[in-house]
Amino acid sequence: MRKSHSFGDGFFIFVKMNDIILKAEAAVKSFLDKDGSGHDWWHINRVRNNALLIAKAYPDSNLFIIELAALLHDMGDYKLHNNNVKAGNEFLESSLLNIGLQKDLREKVLEIISQVSFKGAEVDTHTTSIEAAIVQDADRIDALGAIGIARAFAYGGSKNRLLYDPNLKPEAHSDFESYRNAEGTTINHFYEKLLLLKDRMQTEEGKRIAAQRTEYMSQFLNQFYLEWNGEK
Ligand code: ADP
Ligand code: NI
Repeated sequence: MRKSHSFGDGFFIFVKMNDIILKAEAAVKSFLDKDGSGHDWWHINRVRNNALLIAKAYPDSNLFIIELAALLHDMGDYKLHNNNVKAGNEFLESSLLNIGLQKDLREKVLEIISQVSFKGAEVDTHTTSIEAAIVQDADRIDALGAIGIARAFAYGGSKNRLLYDPNLKPEAHSDFESYRNAEGTTINHFYEKLLLLKDRMQTEEGKRIAAQRTEYMSQFLNQFYLEWNGEK
């Protein structure tokens, strides 16, 4: 018989969920500790916070899955695995096993993460759950505004990309392979991805924040060209 002061099942489920979140945090911190490409732990933490903020407007969404997917969303990113998609997926799958996730949760988190990433201007990246839509918007918000600008140049620097070359025009990539293998300038990345995001946001909060941050990036680009052209 249960003692009257014993904890209910809900408490133990909460402790278990909290333990998984802490393990996911530790795994991400150890993987992205030294990242200089704009995908460091603080990017992950901002995406988690953005996602939980957006989720407030969706009371039926699963906050545990959202937080977990947000924390783990870049573990298998090809950009952090020498451009190797397969190596990235394998690393993500083994990380999910290592933090002790059951099969159904692993599959759900994998499904969300596979839908988060941008794959080219003309490539459809639709989501099939509200949880995936929220994490996708949260990640995209962090590619915009002042932080988005800082991250883009950090990424470009980490790949030895030029800031800008007026002779190299942006491309609208029609498939993931050409997007993944592109070697254009960081300014081109604004036209190939960053400025396109605001029209692809899925949540109201995501749309609002993206519009504001895109305006700021447009001002930055205007100033950039003024200075490039030697104007005061
Ligand atoms: P996604 O999976 O949608 O690419 P990430 O969380 O991996 O999202 O972060 C993407 C960020 O990486 C971009 O917003 C940008 O800052 C940077 N990035 C990716 N590709 C490039 C590129 N070709 N040039 C400059 N920055 C890039
Ligand atoms: Ni990300």
